[in-house]
Amino acid sequence: MTNLHKYFRAEIVSMPPYKPGEQPGAAKVIKLNTNESPYPPSTKVKDAIVQATERLERYPDPLGTSFRLAASKVLSTKAVSVSPDQILCGNGSDDILTILTRAFVGVGEVLRLPFPSYILYRTLAQLQGAAFEEIPFNAAFGLAPEFYVSHDKLKLVFLPNPNSPSGSVIPHDAILDLARSVDCPVVVDEAYVDFAPSNCIELIARDPRIMVTRTLSKSYALAGLRFGYLVAHESIIDVLRKVKDSYNTDAISIAGATAAITDQVWLRENVAKICATRARMTVELRAMGFDVRESHANFVWCTRNDRPVAPLYEQLKSRGILVRYMNYQPWGDGLRISVGTDAEIDATLLILKDLLKEPAK
Ligand SMILES: Cc1ncc(COP(=O)(O)O)c(C=O)c1O
Repeated sequence: MTNLHKYFRAEIVSMPPYKPGEQPGAAKVIKLNTNESPYPPSTKVKDAIVQATERLERYPDPLGTSFRLAASKVLSTKAVSVSPDQILCGNGSDDILTILTRAFVGVGEVLRLPFPSYILYRTLAQLQGAAFEEIPFNAAFGLAPEFYVSHDKLKLVFLPNPNSPSGSVIPHDAILDLARSVDCPVVVDEAYVDFAPSNCIELIARDPRIMVTRTLSKSYALAGLRFGYLVAHESIIDVLRKVKDSYNTDAISIAGATAAITDQVWLRENVAKICATRARMTVELRAMGFDVRESHANFVWCTRNDRPVAPLYEQLKSRGILVRYMNYQPWGDGLRISVGTDAEIDATLLILKDLLKEPAK
């Protein structure tokens, strides 16, 4: 049989695939493994989607203008104004991260990211035939001094803030220092920012090399719709439009996302419910002997030294509860548990309590 692999670029054949979190399909499980919202989206989203299905014979707006207008209103405050021309829409924020990597990082060049963080960044560099430079966080999940070092090959920095899996945040001053220290754009990935006390939008005006990515997959409960966006200096957005697919967001997702971002009352209520459950589960997991970092996202990161956590993941799974086991060697491993409904979290905590009564496996 012909070796079809030989036709691919060598780096594609040799790279490991990115593995997204498990999606169990129709099976009835408590799903706490990919940081989705446990509650359904605003009802206004469905109405907008139904309306959009009436004109599917037409191509969508290539720039998602209705969304950009609505987002510019939501993002602008007394202190900062964000124009629609500062916003680029994407098919999820993963699409935005792909566009950024394609635009800034060429073959043999370097993408910087912290460790442990979002694994997809590595894959994006590898797809480009580029290298990734993974710099470990310090013990308090702050940026280590090496993160600030510039060099000729460094072309882009990704900084998830809040970070996954730790739920930790880097303060604004450190991000501004970083942008001043490296000679390349710094992308703050704010996938989880609605669950945190502050965001970095105002930093864009202070240093135009800072950009911010957002998603509607988490706080807006629209992981299935696929919609994310970038906020950056207008001249950056202008060039990135050349890199994106012509119609990278479809008519249904533009309509749904516009309705979602317009309904800020719904957003505030959803975030408040999730943050209240997060506070409660943090206390209870700590009482069970887990080390749980204070989280600014819709998940908590649980580690422990007295017994391995991988068996707990397996035992939870066999009882229909899916959390994420993550092993970041040499950093260590842990369970990342998404915030579910109160009933889902109660059921999970009850089973965990039971499992912990048994001797470690
Ligand atoms: C840090 C981070 N960035 C981006 C994403 C991707 O989000 P989206 O669903 O918008 O592609 C995720 C998803 O889990 C994430 O954890």
